[in-house]
Amino acid sequence: MCGIVAYIGHREACPIILKGLKRLEYRGYDSAGIALLNGDLKVYKKKGKVSDLENFIGDQATHAHVGMGHTRWATHGEPNDSNAHPHYSTSKRIAIIHNGIIENYAALKTVLQGRGYEFLSDTDSEVFINLIEDIHKNNNCSLEEAVRLALHEVVGAYAIVVLSEDDPGQLIAARKGSPLVIGVGENEFFLASDATPIIEYTNEVIYVNDYEIAVIKDGKLDIQTKEAVRTTPYIQKLELKLDAIEKGGYEHFMLKEIFEQPRSIMDSMRGRLIADQNHLMMGGIREYANKFVAADRILIVACGTSWHAGLVAEYLFEEFARIPVEVEYASEFRYRNPVIRESDIVIAISQSGETADTLAAIELAKSKGATIFGVCNVVGSSIARASDAGAYTHAGPEIGVASTKAFTAQVTVLTLMALMVAEKRGTMENSRLRQLMVEMENIPAKVEQALKLDAKIQHIADVFKDVPNFLYLGRGYNFPVALEGALKLKEISYIHAEGYPAAEMKHGPIALIDENMPVVVIATKDSSYEKIVSNIQEVKARKGRIIAIVTEGDDVIPDMAEFVIEVPAADEALVPLISVIPLQLLSYHIAVMRGCNVDQPRNLAKSVTVE
Ligand code: M6R
Repeated sequence: MCGIVAYIGHREACPIILKGLKRLEYRGYDSAGIALLNGDLKVYKKKGKVSDLENFIGDQATHAHVGMGHTRWATHGEPNDSNAHPHYSTSKRIAIIHNGIIENYAALKTVLQGRGYEFLSDTDSEVFINLIEDIHKNNNCSLEEAVRLALHEVVGAYAIVVLSEDDPGQLIAARKGSPLVIGVGENEFFLASDATPIIEYTNEVIYVNDYEIAVIKDGKLDIQTKEAVRTTPYIQKLELKLDAIEKGGYEHFMLKEIFEQPRSIMDSMRGRLIADQNHLMMGGIREYANKFVAADRILIVACGTSWHAGLVAEYLFEEFARIPVEVEYASEFRYRNPVIRESDIVIAISQSGETADTLAAIELAKSKGATIFGVCNVVGSSIARASDAGAYTHAGPEIGVASTKAFTAQVTVLTLMALMVAEKRGTMENSRLRQLMVEMENIPAKVEQALKLDAKIQHIADVFKDVPNFLYLGRGYNFPVALEGALKLKEISYIHAEGYPAAEMKHGPIALIDENMPVVVIATKDSSYEKIVSNIQEVKARKGRIIAIVTEGDDVIPDMAEFVIEVPAADEALVPLISVIPLQLLSYHIAVMRGCNVDQPRNLAKSVTVE
């Protein structure tokens, strides 16, 4: 969490940094700050959004060609002006912006306090900059060397940028565990947590690796490891387009991203599936096809919505490819001494590719010799780079904190993977495989059709916007969809919601049902349709208010439900790609009607780079 951005070159730094911070605001938005170097090293920072910082700066003089900025998601210390970044060192001659967590900050702080350093904030980052200052002074070394030595002292994760009043033409950055991208322009450099603040100016970027220090001085970039070994930067060309990170006329990014799904699902399949040519190929898997054929277990690690996509994948891989699958919360997996075998295939799913727990789970599985497949959206992200192979989801940038198009893109890619592995293992009837390939190609059009339900869903949202609780039920492939629907609602509207397998309801949650409880039941026509109809009866018998997602033409459930939302028919294995759409729209409209900040819900951040 937290977004960092920095600039050094011939342009005015302040507007570039403020615009960059707005693009990174999805990473954290409780306070923001900026440091500008023009003779003096000046810091401006404020609790609140980047727009509050902008108002605070107002028409103060900001002329500078070097600067850095930060948008924060609080870890150490509450969101307020003094905990906002950048942080000065005690001498106020150097300053830092930091994304990550320094775990041994308390011990370092005690030592530094003993040496007379003063702390104006509760943050670990202020400890970091004073440590650098202490080393700089005591070792009589360059600032670059002081940063390098400090990296040996700190434990934890960081992407940092350091500026010094004594070295006005220099910018020092380093990373371990938190992302850092350098944009290379003509006699100018940009640094940021991701490429979105950079693409307007250059499409040439360098992804800084863990334990590397980048020094930009007098127009030149030098990258070395923590051990002072020089590395050759690899410049990549970005394909990202500016309009992909703008709202394009929609009121919120979330709504834009929901409506982008026909396109993003198509992009996830592009070049991988051509049904009439019998073409099904995931480049990333081809090389490892034999591993999949021989696999006797797949472990899936992920968090949040990506974990829900993993649950769908469990059903897909088990049904199609007959490989046992375990789906793990990355945060639990990494700390519970799991059994991992060299023959295991680990699929790590992450939109951002930066989720700290998922990354740590990968490292653990790698250390035991397992093969890692990353399913990531962000190209060049840490998880993508830490994986042995994988597949990008190609959903395009997802800015809304609530994940929507990333989920359907993940499910699309995982479906293609499962089909391809099934084909290689010979575990599926050829006719069913071909039928599913054709059906997959029809999914974008069906999603388009489901999006036409928007007005009806808006009406339902209006009826239920003030209730305190919701229950979501589904069976089979629709069980993960129920979990996802509940997560969407709670994270953006702050209404308590629970997702349950419909049959499990009678083992506890049924006690919650009365005439005030809305129950969203995903009851499309599938192999457990009759069973879920019985579950709906059980809810109805207790006067629950049923909102049913059904297959077009269903003539049974409409008699039982208060509201019915009809989605296009699809093979049950592919239905999550369609049945999730009304749930995304429902949560969106409820949140908007409740006056919630849909794109930046409280307490959350888009990429969770702390453990
Ligand atoms: O970037 P990731 O997919 O690894 O993120 C995982 C979760 O943090 C993320 O899905 C989160 O649950 C979203 N806010 C859900 O909408």
